[in-house]
Amino acid sequence: MVQFVGTKNIADLVASVGLETLLLKLVKYLEQDFSRWEDFDKTPRIAAHAPNGVIELMPASDHDLYAFKFVNGHPENPLHGLQTVTAFGVLANMHTGYPEFLSEMTISTALRTAATSAMAAKYLARKDARTMAMIGLGAQSEFQATAFKTVLGIRHLQVFDIDPEAGAKFSRNLENSGFVITHAPSAEEAVLGADIITTATADKKLATILSDNMVGAGVHLNAVGGDCPGKTELHRDILLKSDIFVEFPPQTRIEGEIQQLDKNYPVTELWQVITGQKTGRSSDKQITLFDSVGFAIEDFSTLRFLRDLVQGTEFYSEIDLIAEPKDPRDLFGLLMKGAAPARERLAETA
Ligand SMILES: NC(=O)c1ccc[n+]([C@@H]2O[C@H](COP(=O)([O-])OP(=O)(O)OC[C@H]3O[C@@H](n4cnc5c(N)ncnc54)[C@H](O)[C@@H]3O)[C@@H](O)[C@H]2O)c1
Repeated sequence: MVQFVGTKNIADLVASVGLETLLLKLVKYLEQDFSRWEDFDKTPRIAAHAPNGVIELMPASDHDLYAFKFVNGHPENPLHGLQTVTAFGVLANMHTGYPEFLSEMTISTALRTAATSAMAAKYLARKDARTMAMIGLGAQSEFQATAFKTVLGIRHLQVFDIDPEAGAKFSRNLENSGFVITHAPSAEEAVLGADIITTATADKKLATILSDNMVGAGVHLNAVGGDCPGKTELHRDILLKSDIFVEFPPQTRIEGEIQQLDKNYPVTELWQVITGQKTGRSSDKQITLFDSVGFAIEDFSTLRFLRDLVQGTEFYSEIDLIAEPKDPRDLFGLLMKGAAPARERLAETA
């Protein structure tokens, strides 16, 4: 049997553990895996592009575990009542090859993306950062805000979305969460005086959510929405004046903000900052940019975290995903054993 965690299970887990505690624990799992980056087999994700979106497979493995996530990105989906991003993921045993754990990853991707952003900001933002601007108040946004509050103590949010309904939803969801939220009439005004700027917009184009004049000295940029070829959020000039930190360069050079730069443009890998091999922020004047695209090791960590978290709880079920004949060679026999009662049932109803 394979353990299965669905969206209802995740909601129950969050209710039981508490969202902030859960995010802190997840950051620990991410840090553990980023600290042993070289143990992993890594590859850029495999993308199938449609004119209005993308479906991607994201595999990563170490000596013991293999993980993959199925995820899509369809920015026009909300117009039809559908999520921009949906996902599920699997954890398998490298020694037997058997899948052991299957989870929804739509909510979990929002959790892991927010936890990864906050983890990066812990190393890259100024220690005295207190105010975050958020541009794009869709599905990811409250998760981002909560992770930054939990990990960095951010309480002041200056926010903007082109859709006022998204802004109203954001405030409603974070009511009584301890935030002071200011709704700005434009992205330009939202970023005024902010120490950290998070962009999480969705549009399948080279957009300019932030232009050069909007980003001043000392700011940390958490650019989440540019994660696909032809889909970026920052003006190129911002990249040229920032120190750029990425997850996995071979993937980020295809999908991230840095697709706008020369393929050899210098970037720093986040895992090297976490392990102390490279410097993160070196001065209060520096502009740091986390060019987030989402990498498979983050999903590996999230699946590993969820698997560990649900053990001994009621927050999972077991599903009959793998055939388990008594004699492993008698797969056909198992089929016949199941087929006989099915034939009888069908004959009765005929
Ligand atoms: N880097 C990662 O790991 C990662 C993970 C998940 C999602 N994403 C990306 O993050 C983005 C946000 O995802 P989501 O699920 O929240 O999407 P969503 O569709 O739910 O929300 C996007 C929001 O951006 C707003 N928006 C669009 N253009 C804007 C603009 N010019 N100015 C201000 N607001 C604007 C929309 O009105 C909407 O409210 C997507 O592009 C998604 O692909 C990245």
